Amino acid sequence: MKFDGIFEKTIVIVKPDGVQRGLVGEIVRRLEMKGLKIVGLKMMYLSEAALREHYAHHVEKPFYPGLESFMQSSPVAVICAEGKNAVGAVRLIAGITNAGEADAGTMRGDLAMGLCNVVHCSDSVDNAKAEVTRFFDENEIFDYDKTEWTHVYMDDERA
Ligand code: PPS
Repeated sequence: MKFDGIFEKTIVIVKPDGVQRGLVGEIVRRLEMKGLKIVGLKMMYLSEAALREHYAHHVEKPFYPGLESFMQSSPVAVICAEGKNAVGAVRLIAGITNAGEADAGTMRGDLAMGLCNVVHCSDSVDNAKAEVTRFFDENEIFDYDKTEWTHVYMDDERA
């Protein structure tokens, strides 16, 4: 998997509540409107093993069994988005974990009321790299030129 250059890749999972509520398009739309490049996109069911790896820091927490069954209640949509400082940019537009307290204008603030919070997004550059590799095979990540790129970043931001 290619992780060189100034552009980061980050993972957004449209969780079961987002898929069931028909919000996949809205999430993709918000990522695209921000100026991020979609470089990977697919649906999948998350296995118990995948979830235990993905939420390794939370497996011992009391809420984990509920989180695991929620995450398996429907297929999810997994998106890999690319851009300058993409990890931080996506966290900003996703909003905080508890959607009921997330800022208006964010995905969670606009689209959810609590801990059924529509999206997961990578929380650090290192975790983003691990998540891209966890959810996508090399040939599922697309390296392509996006013609609008020159109208998203100034020349010196792309250097
Ligand atoms: S932490 O470490 O507790 O601050 O973690 P946080 O980043 O807030 O949340 C980690 C993920 O766990 C989900 N979560 C919950 N799910 C179900 N019930 C409860 N009570 C709960 N609390 C946290 C939260 O939505 C995060 O999921 P992701 O997929 O990472 O957004």
